[in-house]
Amino acid sequence: MIDRAASLLRDGRLVAFPTETVYGLGADATDEAAVARLFEVKGRPRFNPLISHLPSVEAALAHGDFRDTALRLAEAFWPGPLTLVVRRAEGCPIAWLTSAGLDTVALRVPGLPSARALLAAAGRPIAAPSANRSGRVSPTTAAHVDAEFGEDVALVLDGGPTAVGLESTVVDVSGERAVLLRPGAVTSEMLVPITGPLARPAASAPIASPGMLESHYAPAAPVRLDATELRPGEAYLGFGPIPASLGPGREYLANLSPGGDLVEAASNLFAMLRSLDRPGVAVIAVAPIPETGIGAAIADRLRRAAAPRGSSNRVPPTA
Ligand code: TXA
Ligand code: MG
Repeated sequence: MIDRAASLLRDGRLVAFPTETVYGLGADATDEAAVARLFEVKGRPRFNPLISHLPSVEAALAHGDFRDTALRLAEAFWPGPLTLVVRRAEGCPIAWLTSAGLDTVALRVPGLPSARALLAAAGRPIAAPSANRSGRVSPTTAAHVDAEFGEDVALVLDGGPTAVGLESTVVDVSGERAVLLRPGAVTSEMLVPITGPLARPAASAPIASPGMLESHYAPAAPVRLDATELRPGEAYLGFGPIPASLGPGREYLANLSPGGDLVEAASNLFAMLRSLDRPGVAVIAVAPIPETGIGAAIADRLRRAAAPRGSSNRVPPTA
Protein backbone atom coordinates (compact mmCIF):
# COMPACT_ATOMS: atom_id res chain seq x y z
CA MET A 1 0.00 0.00 0.00
CA ILE A 2 2.83 2.41 0.84
CA ASP A 3 4.48 1.78 -2.52
CA ARG A 4 1.23 2.42 -4.33
CA ALA A 5 0.69 5.63 -2.33
CA ALA A 6 4.23 6.79 -3.09
CA SER A 7 3.80 6.15 -6.78
CA LEU A 8 0.49 8.07 -6.85
CA LEU A 9 2.24 10.99 -5.15
CA ARG A 10 5.05 10.90 -7.71
CA ASP A 11 2.36 11.00 -10.43
CA GLY A 12 1.02 14.27 -9.02
CA ARG A 13 -2.02 12.73 -7.27
CA LEU A 14 -3.36 13.53 -3.80
CA VAL A 15 -2.91 10.90 -1.07
CA ALA A 16 -4.12 11.23 2.53
CA PHE A 17 -1.95 9.63 5.19
CA PRO A 18 -1.73 9.49 8.97
CA THR A 19 0.97 11.22 11.00
CA GLU A 20 1.27 11.22 14.79
CA THR A 21 -0.59 14.57 14.91
CA VAL A 22 -3.49 14.48 12.41
CA TYR A 23 -4.11 13.02 8.93
CA GLY A 24 -2.45 15.01 6.16
CA LEU A 25 -3.53 15.50 2.56
CA GLY A 26 -0.31 14.91 0.65
CA ALA A 27 0.95 16.19 -2.70
CA ASP A 28 4.39 16.34 -4.28
CA ALA A 29 5.74 19.63 -2.87
CA THR A 30 7.98 20.11 -5.90
CA ASP A 31 5.09 19.77 -8.39
CA GLU A 32 3.33 23.10 -8.89
CA ALA A 33 0.28 21.51 -10.56
CA ALA A 34 -0.18 18.91 -7.81
CA VAL A 35 0.08 21.61 -5.14
CA ALA A 36 -2.40 23.83 -7.04
CA ARG A 37 -4.88 20.94 -7.00
CA LEU A 38 -4.29 20.49 -3.27
CA PHE A 39 -5.15 24.16 -2.59
CA GLU A 40 -8.25 23.78 -4.75
CA VAL A 41 -9.53 20.58 -3.14
CA LYS A 42 -8.97 21.93 0.37
CA GLY A 43 -10.53 25.27 -0.51
CA ARG A 44 -7.47 26.86 1.02
CA PRO A 45 -6.44 30.43 0.23
CA ARG A 46 -3.21 30.42 -1.71
CA PHE A 47 -1.56 32.92 0.60
CA ASN A 48 -1.45 30.22 3.28
CA PRO A 49 1.80 28.28 2.85
CA LEU A 50 2.02 24.50 3.32
CA ILE A 51 4.33 22.32 5.41
CA SER A 52 6.75 20.10 3.47
CA HIS A 53 7.34 16.69 5.08
CA LEU A 54 10.65 14.81 4.90
CA PRO A 55 11.58 11.26 5.94
CA SER A 56 14.67 12.13 8.00
CA VAL A 57 16.41 14.96 9.82
CA GLU A 58 19.17 14.80 7.24
CA ALA A 59 16.72 15.21 4.34
CA ALA A 60 15.00 18.12 6.07
CA LEU A 61 18.27 19.92 6.80
CA ALA A 62 19.11 19.86 3.08
CA HIS A 63 16.03 21.97 2.24
CA GLY A 64 16.54 24.91 4.57
CA ASP A 65 19.06 27.15 6.25
CA PHE A 66 19.62 25.52 9.62
CA ARG A 67 21.95 26.98 12.18
CA ASP A 68 22.04 27.69 15.91
CA THR A 69 18.54 27.46 17.39
CA ALA A 70 17.00 25.88 14.28
CA LEU A 71 19.56 23.10 14.29
CA ARG A 72 19.23 22.48 18.01
CA LEU A 73 15.43 22.29 17.74
CA ALA A 74 15.68 19.87 14.80
CA GLU A 75 18.04 17.64 16.74
CA ALA A 76 15.95 17.75 19.91
CA PHE A 77 12.44 17.21 18.51
CA TRP A 78 12.66 15.51 15.09
CA PRO A 79 11.18 13.13 14.19
CA GLY A 80 8.15 14.53 16.00
CA PRO A 81 5.24 16.96 16.16
CA LEU A 82 7.26 20.12 15.43
CA THR A 83 7.36 22.21 12.24
CA LEU A 84 10.25 24.62 11.71
CA VAL A 85 10.01 27.67 9.43
CA VAL A 86 13.48 28.42 8.03
CA ARG A 87 14.95 30.25 5.07
CA ARG A 88 14.80 28.20 1.90
CA ALA A 89 18.14 26.56 1.02
CA GLU A 90 19.76 27.55 -2.25
CA GLY A 91 18.47 25.25 -5.00
CA CYS A 92 15.62 24.03 -2.76
CA PRO A 93 13.22 22.10 -5.06
CA ILE A 94 10.07 22.97 -3.09
CA ALA A 95 7.67 24.79 -5.46
CA TRP A 96 7.07 28.48 -4.76
CA LEU A 97 3.35 27.82 -4.64
CA THR A 98 3.94 25.42 -1.71
CA SER A 99 5.51 28.24 0.32
CA ALA A 100 3.02 30.82 -1.02
CA GLY A 101 5.88 32.73 -2.62
CA LEU A 102 7.73 33.25 0.68
CA ASP A 103 11.50 32.85 0.89
CA THR A 104 10.96 30.65 3.94
CA VAL A 105 9.81 27.01 3.99
CA ALA A 106 8.00 25.08 6.73
CA LEU A 107 9.60 21.65 7.26
CA ARG A 108 8.62 18.69 9.40
CA VAL A 109 9.89 15.15 9.97
CA PRO A 110 6.87 13.28 11.34
CA GLY A 111 7.22 10.88 14.26
CA LEU A 112 4.97 8.14 12.87
CA PRO A 113 7.17 5.46 11.24
CA SER A 114 4.62 4.64 8.49
CA ALA A 115 4.56 8.32 7.48
CA ARG A 116 8.37 8.38 7.23
CA ALA A 117 8.28 5.15 5.20
CA LEU A 118 5.87 6.79 2.75
CA LEU A 119 8.03 9.91 2.51
CA ALA A 120 11.15 7.83 1.93
CA ALA A 121 9.39 5.86 -0.81
CA ALA A 122 8.12 9.07 -2.44
CA GLY A 123 11.69 10.35 -2.50
CA ARG A 124 10.76 14.03 -2.48
CA PRO A 125 9.29 16.56 -0.04
CA ILE A 126 5.53 16.05 0.40
CA ALA A 127 3.30 19.04 1.11
CA ALA A 128 0.59 18.00 3.55
CA PRO A 129 -1.88 20.27 5.25
CA SER A 130 -4.39 18.68 7.60
CA ALA A 131 -6.82 16.63 5.47
CA ASN A 132 -9.92 18.74 6.07
CA ARG A 133 -11.69 21.45 4.11
CA SER A 134 -10.17 24.80 4.99
CA GLY A 135 -11.41 26.21 8.30
CA ARG A 136 -12.95 22.95 9.53
CA VAL A 137 -11.94 20.46 12.22
CA SER A 138 -8.74 18.49 11.45
CA PRO A 139 -9.15 14.72 10.87
CA THR A 140 -7.79 12.21 13.36
CA THR A 141 -9.14 9.07 11.64
CA ALA A 142 -9.29 7.83 8.03
CA ALA A 143 -13.11 7.93 8.24
CA HIS A 144 -12.95 11.69 8.93
CA VAL A 145 -10.90 12.12 5.74
CA ASP A 146 -13.36 10.03 3.68
CA ALA A 147 -16.24 12.10 5.01
CA GLU A 148 -14.56 15.35 3.89
CA PHE A 149 -13.14 14.44 0.51
CA GLY A 150 -14.57 11.22 -0.93
CA GLU A 151 -13.51 10.87 -4.56
CA ASP A 152 -11.28 13.96 -4.61
CA VAL A 153 -8.44 11.97 -3.04
CA ALA A 154 -6.72 9.13 -4.92
CA LEU A 155 -6.01 7.07 -1.80
CA VAL A 156 -6.45 7.30 1.97
CA LEU A 157 -3.95 5.30 4.03
CA ASP A 158 -5.62 4.10 7.23
CA GLY A 159 -3.36 4.01 10.27
CA GLY A 160 -6.11 4.15 12.88
CA PRO A 161 -6.68 7.13 15.19
CA THR A 162 -3.72 9.51 15.47
CA ALA A 163 -1.82 9.60 18.76
CA VAL A 164 -1.43 13.32 19.44
CA GLY A 165 -4.66 14.59 17.92
CA LEU A 166 -3.57 18.24 17.45
CA GLU A 167 -1.53 19.67 14.58
CA SER A 168 2.22 20.14 15.03
CA THR A 169 3.75 23.05 16.92
CA VAL A 170 4.96 25.64 14.37
CA VAL A 171 8.05 27.72 15.26
CA ASP A 172 9.53 30.34 12.95
CA VAL A 173 13.30 30.27 13.36
CA SER A 174 14.07 32.24 10.19
CA GLY A 175 14.79 35.46 12.07
CA GLU A 176 16.73 36.66 15.11
CA ARG A 177 14.24 35.39 17.65
CA ALA A 178 12.14 32.23 17.57
CA VAL A 179 8.44 32.95 17.08
CA LEU A 180 5.73 30.50 18.18
CA LEU A 181 3.23 30.51 15.31
CA ARG A 182 1.06 27.61 16.47
CA PRO A 183 1.13 25.85 19.87
CA GLY A 184 1.12 22.03 19.86
CA ALA A 185 2.41 18.92 21.59
CA VAL A 186 5.96 20.30 21.66
CA THR A 187 5.00 22.85 24.31
CA SER A 188 6.55 26.24 25.00
CA GLU A 189 7.88 24.76 28.25
CA MET A 190 9.83 22.27 26.11
CA LEU A 191 10.98 24.86 23.55
CA VAL A 192 12.15 27.69 25.80
CA PRO A 193 15.28 25.96 27.19
CA ILE A 194 16.55 25.90 23.59
CA THR A 195 14.98 29.03 22.08
CA GLY A 196 15.02 31.39 25.03
CA PRO A 197 11.94 33.56 25.41
CA LEU A 198 9.58 32.97 22.47
CA ALA A 199 8.39 35.98 20.54
CA ARG A 200 4.73 36.33 19.67
CA PRO A 201 3.79 36.74 16.02
CA ALA A 202 3.76 40.40 15.06
CA ALA A 203 0.22 41.60 14.39
CA SER A 204 1.59 43.29 11.28
CA ALA A 205 3.40 40.19 10.00
CA PRO A 206 2.70 39.64 6.32
CA ILE A 207 2.53 35.86 6.79
CA ALA A 208 -0.63 34.32 8.13
CA SER A 209 -0.61 30.82 9.51
CA PRO A 210 -4.11 29.53 8.74
CA GLY A 211 -3.98 28.34 12.30
CA MET A 212 -3.78 32.03 13.14
CA LEU A 213 -7.00 32.89 11.38
CA GLU A 214 -9.43 33.69 14.11
CA SER A 215 -12.14 31.30 12.95
CA HIS A 216 -10.58 27.91 12.27
CA TYR A 217 -10.88 24.30 13.43
CA ALA A 218 -14.60 24.98 13.56
CA PRO A 219 -17.47 22.48 13.73
CA ALA A 220 -20.79 23.56 12.14
CA ALA A 221 -22.42 24.18 15.52
CA PRO A 222 -21.29 27.27 17.46
CA VAL A 223 -18.95 26.57 20.38
CA ARG A 224 -19.29 28.09 23.88
CA LEU A 225 -16.22 27.98 26.14
CA ASP A 226 -15.73 27.63 29.92
CA ALA A 227 -19.24 26.26 30.31
CA THR A 228 -20.14 25.24 33.85
CA GLU A 229 -23.86 24.91 33.22
CA LEU A 230 -25.94 23.73 30.27
CA ARG A 231 -28.54 25.66 28.34
CA PRO A 232 -31.39 24.17 26.31
CA GLY A 233 -30.25 22.59 23.03
CA GLU A 234 -26.62 22.40 24.06
CA ALA A 235 -24.34 19.39 23.87
CA TYR A 236 -21.61 19.15 26.50
CA LEU A 237 -17.92 18.46 26.03
CA GLY A 238 -16.48 17.78 29.46
CA PHE A 239 -13.02 17.57 30.99
CA GLY A 240 -12.44 15.77 34.30
CA PRO A 241 -15.35 14.69 36.48
CA ILE A 242 -18.62 15.95 35.01
CA PRO A 243 -20.78 17.83 37.52
CA ALA A 244 -23.74 15.63 38.53
CA SER A 245 -26.15 18.34 37.44
CA LEU A 246 -24.85 18.04 33.87
CA GLY A 247 -24.05 14.41 33.50
CA PRO A 248 -26.38 11.44 33.66
CA GLY A 249 -29.13 11.04 31.14
CA ARG A 250 -27.85 13.60 28.70
CA GLU A 251 -28.01 12.45 25.15
CA TYR A 252 -25.23 14.57 23.74
CA LEU A 253 -22.33 14.31 26.09
CA ALA A 254 -18.66 13.54 25.62
CA ASN A 255 -15.70 13.73 27.97
CA LEU A 256 -12.23 14.67 26.71
CA SER A 257 -10.65 12.98 29.72
CA PRO A 258 -12.66 11.81 32.73
CA GLY A 259 -9.40 11.61 34.70
CA GLY A 260 -8.37 15.16 33.73
CA ASP A 261 -5.35 14.12 31.60
CA LEU A 262 -4.50 16.90 29.10
CA VAL A 263 -2.62 14.62 26.67
CA GLU A 264 -5.64 12.30 26.48
CA ALA A 265 -7.89 15.35 26.04
CA ALA A 266 -5.79 16.60 23.10
CA SER A 267 -6.04 13.23 21.37
CA ASN A 268 -9.85 13.22 21.75
CA LEU A 269 -10.58 16.88 20.98
CA PHE A 270 -11.26 16.86 17.24
CA ALA A 271 -13.07 13.49 17.11
CA MET A 272 -15.37 14.54 19.97
CA LEU A 273 -16.10 17.94 18.42
CA ARG A 274 -17.12 16.05 15.28
CA SER A 275 -19.25 13.53 17.17
CA LEU A 276 -21.19 16.27 18.98
CA ASP A 277 -21.60 18.30 15.80
CA ARG A 278 -24.93 16.92 14.54
CA PRO A 279 -28.46 17.99 13.78
CA GLY A 280 -30.39 18.90 16.89
CA VAL A 281 -27.34 20.29 18.66
CA ALA A 282 -27.65 24.09 18.77
CA VAL A 283 -24.37 24.80 20.58
CA ILE A 284 -21.41 22.76 21.81
CA ALA A 285 -20.63 23.87 25.37
CA VAL A 286 -17.08 23.07 26.50
CA ALA A 287 -15.88 22.68 30.09
CA PRO A 288 -13.00 24.85 31.39
CA ILE A 289 -9.60 23.31 30.55
CA PRO A 290 -6.30 24.23 32.24
CA GLU A 291 -3.82 25.95 29.91
CA THR A 292 -0.64 24.28 31.13
CA GLY A 293 1.54 22.13 28.82
CA ILE A 294 -0.45 20.87 25.84
CA GLY A 295 -3.49 22.55 27.43
CA ALA A 296 -2.26 25.78 25.79
CA ALA A 297 -2.66 24.17 22.36
CA ILE A 298 -6.11 22.79 23.27
CA ALA A 299 -7.21 26.24 24.43
CA ASP A 300 -5.82 27.80 21.24
CA ARG A 301 -7.84 25.44 19.00
CA LEU A 302 -11.00 25.88 21.10
CA ARG A 303 -10.77 29.69 20.98
CA ARG A 304 -10.63 29.50 17.20
CA ALA A 305 -13.48 26.98 17.05
CA ALA A 306 -15.52 29.45 19.14
CA ALA A 307 -14.55 32.59 17.18
CA PRO A 308 -17.19 34.39 15.12
CA ARG A 309 -17.51 32.64 11.75
CA GLY A 310 -16.14 34.23 8.62
CA SER A 311 -13.77 36.14 10.83
CA SER A 312 -10.40 36.52 9.18
CA ASN A 313 -8.76 38.61 11.87
CA ARG A 314 -5.52 37.20 13.03
CA VAL A 315 -5.02 36.55 16.69
CA PRO A 316 -1.69 35.50 18.15
CA PRO A 317 -1.58 32.04 19.72
CA THR A 318 -1.04 31.53 23.40
CA ALA A 319 2.72 31.67 23.96
O1 TXA B 1 0.56 18.37 12.27
C1 TXA B 1 0.65 19.02 11.23
O2 TXA B 1 1.39 20.00 11.10
C2 TXA B 1 -0.23 18.55 10.03
C3 TXA B 1 0.30 17.20 9.61
C4 TXA B 1 -0.42 16.66 8.40
O3 TXA B 1 1.69 17.25 9.39
N1 TXA B 1 -0.20 19.52 8.99
C5 TXA B 1 -0.80 20.74 9.13
O4 TXA B 1 -0.67 21.55 8.02
O5 TXA B 1 -1.37 21.09 10.14
P1 TXA B 1 -1.51 22.89 7.84
O6 TXA B 1 -1.28 23.29 6.43
O7 TXA B 1 -2.92 22.66 8.25
O8 TXA B 1 -0.78 23.93 8.75
C6 TXA B 1 0.48 24.48 8.34
C7 TXA B 1 0.83 25.65 9.21
C8 TXA B 1 -0.05 26.81 8.87
O9 TXA B 1 -0.40 27.48 10.07
C9 TXA B 1 0.84 27.63 7.94
O10 TXA B 1 0.46 28.96 7.82
C10 TXA B 1 2.17 27.45 8.59
O11 TXA B 1 2.18 26.09 8.96
N2 TXA B 1 3.25 27.73 7.63
C11 TXA B 1 3.62 26.99 6.58
N3 TXA B 1 4.65 27.57 5.92
C12 TXA B 1 4.93 28.72 6.57
C13 TXA B 1 5.87 29.76 6.37
N4 TXA B 1 6.74 29.73 5.38
N5 TXA B 1 5.86 30.77 7.24
C14 TXA B 1 4.96 30.80 8.26
N6 TXA B 1 4.04 29.85 8.51
C15 TXA B 1 4.02 28.82 7.67
MG1 MG C 1 -5.05 22.72 9.05
